[in-house]
Amino acid sequence: MTSSPAPDDHVRITVDDVPLSVPVRRTVAAALMLEGRQAGWRVTRRAGAERGLFCGIGVCYDCLATVDGRPGLRTCLVQVADGMDVRTGTVDV
Ligand code: FES
Repeated sequence: MTSSPAPDDHVRITVDDVPLSVPVRRTVAAALMLEGRQAGWRVTRRAGAERGLFCGIGVCYDCLATVDGRPGLRTCLVQVADGMDVRTGTVDV
């Protein structure tokens, strides 16, 4: 993969192996929304219902993802950082 440096006000993250340049001080949930995942980025284990950003304040746990190998993080509370690896889909916590 070739990559040019991110602008000073952006960081580089990967979401499911797709590289993204995201403005600094955004949450992972905001980055996923910017990427076009308004409908959600995981499904529930039993019903397969799509979940993503709902409350945006850490209360509902709908926005879970695996960040840098740590499963079940509420992405609406995690700020993006350069080199961060985000995995979406079903989260087993
Ligand atoms: S959107 Fe509700 S906890 Fe993140």
